[in-house]
Parts: sequence; structure tokens; C-alpha cells
Amino acid sequence: MFNNAITKKLKEEGIRFEIIENPPIKAVEDGVKFLGIEATDIVPTLIFKAEGKLLAVLKRGDQQLDLEVIKKYLKAKNLILANEKEIFEKLGFVKGAIPLITGLPTLMEETVLKKEYIYGGIGDFNYTLKIKPVDLKNVTKAEVISMTKKHRVFSGLRPTAKLHLGNYLGMVKGALELQNKADFDCIYSVVDLHGITTPFDPKTYQKQIKELVLDLLGAGLDPKKCHLMIQSQVPEHVELAYLFGTVYPVSRLEDLPTYKDKKAENPDYINMGLLYYPVLMAADILVYKADMVPVGKDQIPHIEVAREMARTFNRMFPSTSLRTSGKTFPEPQAYLTPGAYVPSLKGEGKMSKSIPGSFILLTDDLQMIKKRLAGAPTDVGKGEKVPEKGGVANLLTLVKLFEGNGIYKGYAEQYLHEGIRYDRLKDNLAVAIYNELAPVQERRKYYEDNYSLVEDILEEGKEYCSKIAQETLLEVKEKMGLVKLGNK
Ligand code: TYM
Repeated sequence: MFNNAITKKLKEEGIRFEIIENPPIKAVEDGVKFLGIEATDIVPTLIFKAEGKLLAVLKRGDQQLDLEVIKKYLKAKNLILANEKEIFEKLGFVKGAIPLITGLPTLMEETVLKKEYIYGGIGDFNYTLKIKPVDLKNVTKAEVISMTKKHRVFSGLRPTAKLHLGNYLGMVKGALELQNKADFDCIYSVVDLHGITTPFDPKTYQKQIKELVLDLLGAGLDPKKCHLMIQSQVPEHVELAYLFGTVYPVSRLEDLPTYKDKKAENPDYINMGLLYYPVLMAADILVYKADMVPVGKDQIPHIEVAREMARTFNRMFPSTSLRTSGKTFPEPQAYLTPGAYVPSLKGEGKMSKSIPGSFILLTDDLQMIKKRLAGAPTDVGKGEKVPEKGGVANLLTLVKLFEGNGIYKGYAEQYLHEGIRYDRLKDNLAVAIYNELAPVQERRKYYEDNYSLVEDILEEGKEYCSKIAQETLLEVKEKMGLVKLGNK
């Protein structure tokens, strides 16, 4: 039977709660299945031992705790999970909801409070307690802190043109997915310093930056869930890039396919910035110690440079003091979506802002989308094998991305039998694309009409990012012997 002392205490405190009878719940997954809830709704109680003393920690079932954060908060040198024997010896019982009646010091992860109701143990695997998190907090006198292991996410876009479907599907969709995860701290940037490595117009550049910010907010980047910043407003990006440049071989940079492409695109504009591009990009990511980077496939060689940079720096400059112990940088990973490579409408290569006729913009209306699709090359509509390259293949990829696999398979069948009517395919595809873009355009308009909101968002981003970047720079300079140890 569940522990009656718990229900008694809750009743005494005048708290509303529910006890649900269920098949034995021994793991978060059992509760999710039976109760028809999500892992985020379950709050297990973990009992830790810090410096020999027990304490309870309440966190959501989907979260991993960052023990270093808890240790720092408690000012404890060691922290381990307590075993059942020592819990029983000290408290007289083991399972569930212990802090409710023991007065054990309790910490609550702050995101628990975001739920309307949470579900937890009550001393018996066959019963679950449903309660409002704020009541649980009050009755346990829990201290609320942020203590989950957070991934840091960074990505950037150049303000060289308005956003197109390639940027949207390849990068923005990934960015949206990650901003919605509780354990991800996301920073997204307009990388204006990268944008000046190819020909640009200083007179229109500020406007381009503004347009891109609006595009991103329109596409759904949510200032409540992520930070938006302008790269050049946090000069530590450049400072770290310079320092990184001193540890990275020139030959590797000259070999990168992106550098070669840019040289071929603008043979009269081959500048140092182009060569430095991936080094600055590594600095963008690592100045925030980001471990996850939502990007399109074309950026993978650059992520590889960032990974190598992290490895090289960690090897060359190990810790110099307790304050900066451990590896300085994580090895960041690319986060790819199904649209990580969006092909060009022209039938060859990828959709790109520098190739006219290859793209559809996020701001295009239905008529414009139809016009752009009309220019996409096709064939007679049937054959023995569905093309894997060229205009038809690219159109079918867009069908898959916007209308789903079922419709795509239908067209593939038609190609092998009665033939595809491309006018209809293009019409339907245009409508599907527009249906996705219409809410994006509406949101964009809202921010455009309320631009002071955007200014506040960027100011917040700058401040948030500056703090992190300054910390990293201090650590890096300490490790490189550029400032005196413990100069903080
Ligand atoms: P940019 O502005 O050229 O591209 C922005 C993002 O859009 C993706 N992308 C595509 N994805 C799929 N299919 C396509 N056809 C397509 N075209 C573009 C790009 O992969 C990119 O993710 N180097 C970066 C900017 C940058 C950055 C960073 C990114 C600077 N620092 C740090 C991540 C982390 C770039 O290419 O931007």
C-alpha cells in the first residue's frame, strides 16, 4: 500500500491531489504508457549524498542532471546517488515522494514548475501521485534551481540575401526543432562578418541584416526559446578566430571545397576573409562551447574544421588552474534535417542565393512561387526509371519535402506508367509550398510592424552572448598564457 503519511500530510496542508492506481511503474516509460502522459510530466525523486548528507532532487523524467551545477550550488566537493540501504537506514523507507514527509533538503529543477500537473511516486509502484508542481514545491520547501545538462546550440546565416527554401529546410527547420527541446540552449546569429567576404554593398547592408532577422522571426525562431544575435556585436568572435588562426594550418584551409567554390565564383574578390571564413565559423560555434550546429549538408566540411580546432586547442593548451580544469571545447556536431540538401530549381546543384532562378524565397506569394516553378526544367513525363538527377529529380525532392512521401511515391508510379502531368504537379507543389509559407509571412509582417520588439530581442541576444563569450575568452587566454592566472 502507498504511504499514508504522505496523503495525510497533503490533506493537512489543504493541497489538492489525486492518487492513481496503476500496473507497477518502475521506469519513466511505464508511466508514459499507462497514464497516457509524456516523460516531461513525470517527476522522479532522486536521493543524493553530498558530503555525507542526504538530499532530494526533483526533476523531469526526460532530463539529465548536470551534477557539476548541483555541486557548485551546494558548494560540495562530492555528490553521488545514495543507495537504497543508506536511504532506508536514515529515513526508514525508500521509494517515492520521500521529501514530502521527511523534511529532507530538496532541490527542484526549475522546468518542473512549467507543467500544470506532474506525476510522481508515492512509495508503492502500483500508485501514482498527481499534483500541481507549485504545491509540491511548497510542501517540500524545495529550492528551485536550473540544473539540467544543457546542450548549447549555435548556428548562423549570412545576410547576403533573403532566406530561400534551402536555408529554411536545411537550417531553420533544424533550429526550430532544437529550440523546442527543454535541454537545449540555442543561439542563432546573423553572421554579418561572414557576409562581407563576398562582394556586398555597405549602403544596403544594414537593411539586409534587418530583412534576415525578420525572415528568421517569421520562420518561427521564438525569442522566448532562443537567443538571436548579430555576430559583429560580440567582438569576442573575432578575437577567438584570431587566436584559433594561430593554431590551424593554412594548407587545410586552402583545400576546403567551399573556399575553392568561392574563388571560382568571384575570381576578382579573393580576400583573406574568405580563407579565414571557416576559422571565424569555428570561433562562432566554440566561443559558446556549442556542441550542436543545425546546418545544411554543404556546411559539413566547416563543422569538421571546428571539430579539429577544438581537438587541437584542447591538446595544445591543457588546463593551467583548477578554475579552468578539463577540456576547453566540445567537438560540435552538425544537426541535419531531411531537407539538409535542397536542390536547385534549375536542375543542377543546390538551391543557392547566388544562383538566380535556383530558389524560392520565404517571402514569395503564390503567384511568384508558380512563376519560379514554371522555370524548372522537366522531361516528357514518363520513362523506365525515375530520374535520380536533374530537373525532374529535383522537383520530386521538393514534392517529398512539402507534400510527403505518399504523394511522392504516387508521382514516381505515374512516371513509370501513365506519365506525370507536370503542369498539375507544379500547381499542387506551389500550393503546398505557399501553405507552409503563408503563416511565416504573417508572423514576419507582425515583427516588421512592431520593429521595436525586434530591437529588444537583439539587445537581449547581445547581452546574453557577450557574457558567455567573455568567459570563454578569459579561459582561452589563461590557457594560452596571454593573461595572468586567476586574473578574474
Ligand atoms: P549561409 O547563409 O550561406 O546559409 C545558411 C544555412 O542555410 C543552409 N543552406 C542549405 N541547406 C540545404 N539546402 C540548400 N540548398 C541550402 N542552401 C543553404 C546552409 O547549409 C546554412 O546552414 N557558413 C554558414 C554561416 C555560418 C555559420 C556559422 C553556420 C557562419 N558561422 C556557425 C553555423 C555555425 C553559411 O553557409 O551560411
